[in-house]
Parts: sequence; C-alpha cells; structure tokens
Amino acid sequence: MTAAGLKSTPGGALRGTVRAPGDKSISHRSMILGALASGTTTVEGLLEGADVLATAQAMRSFGARVEQEGVGRWRIEGHGGFVEPSDVVDCGNAGTGVRLIMGAAAGFALCATFTGDNSLRGRPMGRVLDPLARMGATWLGRDKGRLPLTLKGGNLRGLSYKLPMASAQVKSAVLLAGLHAEGGVEVIEPEATRDHTERMLRAFGAEVLVEDRGGVRHIRLPAGQKLTGTHVSVPGDPSSAAFPLVAGLIVPGSEVTVEGVMLNELRTGLFTTLQEMGADLTIANVRDSSGEQVGDITARYSPNMKGVVVPPERAPAMIDEYPILAVAAAFAAGETVMRGVGEMRVKESDRIALTAAGLEACGVDVEEEPEGFIVRGTGQPPRGGALVETHGDHRIAMSHLVLGLAAQAPVKIDEPGMIATSFPGFAEMMRGLGGDLVEA
Ligand code: S3P
Repeated sequence: MTAAGLKSTPGGALRGTVRAPGDKSISHRSMILGALASGTTTVEGLLEGADVLATAQAMRSFGARVEQEGVGRWRIEGHGGFVEPSDVVDCGNAGTGVRLIMGAAAGFALCATFTGDNSLRGRPMGRVLDPLARMGATWLGRDKGRLPLTLKGGNLRGLSYKLPMASAQVKSAVLLAGLHAEGGVEVIEPEATRDHTERMLRAFGAEVLVEDRGGVRHIRLPAGQKLTGTHVSVPGDPSSAAFPLVAGLIVPGSEVTVEGVMLNELRTGLFTTLQEMGADLTIANVRDSSGEQVGDITARYSPNMKGVVVPPERAPAMIDEYPILAVAAAFAAGETVMRGVGEMRVKESDRIALTAAGLEACGVDVEEEPEGFIVRGTGQPPRGGALVETHGDHRIAMSHLVLGLAAQAPVKIDEPGMIATSFPGFAEMMRGLGGDLVEA
C-alpha cells in the first residue's frame, strides 16, 4: 500500500488569523543550551515538530532531564555538561540538530555516534567537522564526513575561524564547542547569518562579544563561560509563517493574519522581497518577546505583484524561503531572479532542482543555474495540475501545496508526512483559513 499524498485545490478566499508555530532554530537551541547549562530551563512555545523532538531525545541521551509539561511547555534539567551516550544518537531529518549537537558534544571527553534519516545521511558534515578537528576533536566515518560518524571530543584548544560559507549552523557549532575550549573561540562571519545562538548564549549568562569591522562580523566567546538555566519564550517562526502569508497573497479575495512572527532582521528577507514585488503585506503590533521583536503580519490578495532581482547578499536572511518565494514569483508578472543561493542545494533536498522541477511540472517557466534560478511569471495563475515529488523535503511540500490553492488546477504532493518536521498542523491551519487540502 502506498501512503496517501496531499492535494490542494483552488477555491475560495482564505480568511482568518492564525499563530505561527514556534521558531525551529530557537527551539533546537533552547534544548541544547538548556542541556549544557546548570539548573532548570523552562521553555514556552517550543516547536513540537519531529526535528526538535529528535533534539530533545538526543539531549536526554547526553544526560539532561527533558520533560514536556504542557503544549509547547518544556522543562530541561541540565548538569553543566554532557555525558557519553550509551547508544547511537539519531537526529532524524535535522541538520540544525546534528550540527549544533556535534559542536556542543565536542567540548567533552566523550565518544558519540551520530546518524539521521536518509536525507540527513546525504548532507555534508565536513563543514562542522573541519573546525572541530582544528580544535582537537577527532572523528571517524564515511568519506566526505557523511553520517553515520563517531565523534570524540575533549581537551579542545581555541580557534579563530573564518566561515567558508554563510552558515549559522557552522558558526553555532564552533561557538558551542568553544564553551569548553582553552582560550575561547572567535568566528569571523563575512556575511551575517541568523544570530540566535549568540543571543541565547547571552540569555544563559555567557559573554559574547560581537564587533562589526566593515561589514565583517567578529564573534568572540572568551574562555571560561558558565551557562545557567533560564526561561525561553520561543517566538513564531517566520519561515513557517511564510506559507499561509504567501497563500493569502495569491488566492483571490484573501486576507490572512499571522500573529507573533519573529522579526529578527537576519530572518525577514522574504517579507522585504515580497514588499518589493508589490505584495500587500503589513506588519503591526511590533513588540519585544524574550529579546526578539515579534509582530503580526497581514497578507492581502495582491494580483499585481511584479518580478524582482533578489540581492544575493540577502540570501542568508531568507535561505529557507526561496521555494515559497518562487511560488509567489510564479504568480507575479515578469522575471524574479534568485542568485547566490548555492547553499539551497545542500538543504533537506537539492532545493534549487526540486523547486524548478515542481514549478515546471505546474506549467511555470523556470531557468535553473548552478547557484540560482529565475522564475518567469505571467501575472496569471499557473496551470498547476501536477503531482510534485518532494523527496521528503517539508518546505518543497508546503510550497507546492500553497501553489495548488491558487493555480488553475489542483496540485498533489507525494509525501505529506515530512511536513511535521517543521510545521505540524500545517494542513489543519490551511483548512481553517478556508483552503481545500485533502488526502489523495
Ligand atoms: C539554521 C540555519 C540555516 C537554515 C536552517 C536552520 C539554524 O542553515 O537553512 O534551516 O538554525 O542555524 P545553514 O546554517 O546551513 O545555512
């Protein structure tokens, strides 16, 4: 028997107000820092998606007590360090989870074997293993540093490391290893990436020094830091809010509000780009929540969007949002040029290839480049009427389902189960807004 797919059918306007699920990046970090800290950490608004639950389980295997106390409410008892796990640590589909945990684990005299699902086992880990090895960690695994692999940590020396690619995961792995490195660490970031680790380390009591030298960020974690448990309130995930909001822009007559969306400027490149395209997207009720700005974003049907050239330097602030931007671009008039996004090829799937293939199957004119792609919209709804292969990628699945809500004919995706890695309740939320999503 083959598992059911999910089909979205064009229909009436989407209307209503919803809350975005908790931010995935912050949810992972709250678990990991809570486990590294001494004392109790309480979390509210945690994203209870499969990725974060895998990180919670991993933290138990490194010795922390991790308990769910209610919906989105968790308690973590950390002992100020990790112990050696007695079994393989399976991080599921989560690149953020495994890369940050390897960084954190490298600081301790322990040996741990990591694995993940089919997608995660194909993703590059050398990008974190290289700096960790320079600090003195050792590892053994398959060629090119793919999972499964075994990491041996402890006795780390300090490092000043210039990131070879714009990656918050690599930056975070080095900083977390640096908590237990002699002499501390410095990460040099030519392109700013999401700064949740720096912010959260401070919230747990660490000293993190950030200096901007001509657009290049030098992030320094001096030696001898102690983390103390704290309270973390997880803001809504802009990467998830993107799906109902873009749906609101492309389905005729719609007005959709997503409340409590994090507005950290290292995450909001999509909203800026949509506004440049002429989208009717307004942000209201901007407030502070646990050190991050959040706001309520309203998207109204925007039939006159125009294609734009997305500045490549904006890529780190919207790297996960290009598939859904490409959907908006398919409804806009003219070319939307997205370049400098080679990192998309090493996400949960090759997202340049799968976005191009999915949109082409739906009748959209797409040109693929090695490190980018161009979508040529006609200003009219694309044909749709396709079965889109998602290769187990949650964002590819949600993007094409959103397209199907406003195309000329329904769109079906093959593997809806993976949506729960980042957005459990996605289909229910879209149905609640009036979207026609059914198993098929
Ligand atoms: C993340 C960083 C990004 C992003 C991922 C989450 C994080 O990955 O794509 O979904 O939480 O640090 P890279 O660091 O590989 O760019």
